[in-house]
Amino acid sequence: MTSLSKIAVSGKGGVGKTTLSALLAHIYAERGRDVTAIDADPVGGLAQALGLPEELAARVTPVAQMEDLIYERTGAKPGTSGGFFTMNPRVDDIPERFSVSHRGIRFLRLGTIETGGTGCICPESALLKALVTHLLLYRDEMLILDMEAGVEHLGRATAQAVDAFLVVLEPGRRSLSTAERVKKLAQDIGITHVYAVGNNVRGQRDQEFLVDKSPVPILGYLSRNPELTDADMRGVGIYDAAPQSVQEATQLVAALEAL
Ligand SMILES: Nc1ncnc2c1ncn2[C@@H]1O[C@H](COP(=O)(O)OP(=O)(O)OP(=O)(O)O)[C@@H](O)[C@H]1O
Ligand SMILES: [Mg+2]
Repeated sequence: MTSLSKIAVSGKGGVGKTTLSALLAHIYAERGRDVTAIDADPVGGLAQALGLPEELAARVTPVAQMEDLIYERTGAKPGTSGGFFTMNPRVDDIPERFSVSHRGIRFLRLGTIETGGTGCICPESALLKALVTHLLLYRDEMLILDMEAGVEHLGRATAQAVDAFLVVLEPGRRSLSTAERVKKLAQDIGITHVYAVGNNVRGQRDQEFLVDKSPVPILGYLSRNPELTDADMRGVGIYDAAPQSVQEATQLVAALEAL
C-alpha cells in the first residue's frame, strides 16, 4: 500500500481535468480507498462525470455559497472585506455535513468566489482555504481536487501535502502555455511533484509532440475517446461509459504509485 493520497488536477479550460479527476476517483474507490472528490472548479461538472444521480448532486451546495455557515464560522458576512474575521475558522465538520456519497466516493463542492481577478482576503476565501488545508493535512483519505487552471485554495502551508499535482495537457500550444504558467504558480508556493497527463491523444505523433514540449515530466496519456464525449452529451458517468479510458487511467494510477 502506498502513501500517495492527495492529488490535485489542473490545466487549461476544457482540457479534461474533470474527466481525469472522475476516472481517478473511481479507480481508487474500486481499490477500496476512502475517496473524497472535490469540485474546486467554478465551471464544475464533476458530479455529472462521476455519475451522481441528479437528486443527489442537487443536495450539494457549494461551500462558498453557504452564507450562514461563512458568517457563523468566520464572524463576517460573505462579500465583505477589510473588516475583522477569523483566518482559522472551524471546518472539521464540513466534509461530513455538506457532502454526499456515491459508489464509495464522497463528493463536495467548493464553489466560486467573486474576486475580480486577483484573489481576495474575504471571509469566504478564508473558509475555503481552511477547509482545503484541513482536507489536505488532517484527513487520511484519498483526496482528488478538480481545480481550475491555477493554484487557488492551495498555499505554502499545504504545498507539501500535495503528493501529485497533475497538469492536463493536450497536443496543442495553448494547453502547453497554460501548463507552463500553472507549473510556475505551483512552484511559487512550493509544490514540487508536478506532472503532466496528456489527454485527447490520437497516437504516437501526439505523444511525441507532448514529450518534446511539455514543461513537466509526463506521467501518461488518455486517448481521444468518443465514448467520453457521448457520456457528457448523455449526462452519464464516465466510469461505466468509457471502459477504454478507465483502462488508460489505471495505467496512470500505476505510474503514480511508482513515483
Ligand atoms: N480523451 C478524450 N476524448 C474525447 N473527449 C474528451 C476527452 N477528454 C475529455 N473529453 C471531453 O471534453 C469535454 C471537456 O472535458 P472536461 O470537462 O473533462 O474538461 P475540463 O478541463 O474539466 O473542462 P472545464 O475547464 O470546463 O472544467 C467533455 O465533453 C469531455 O467529455
Ligand atoms: Mg472541469
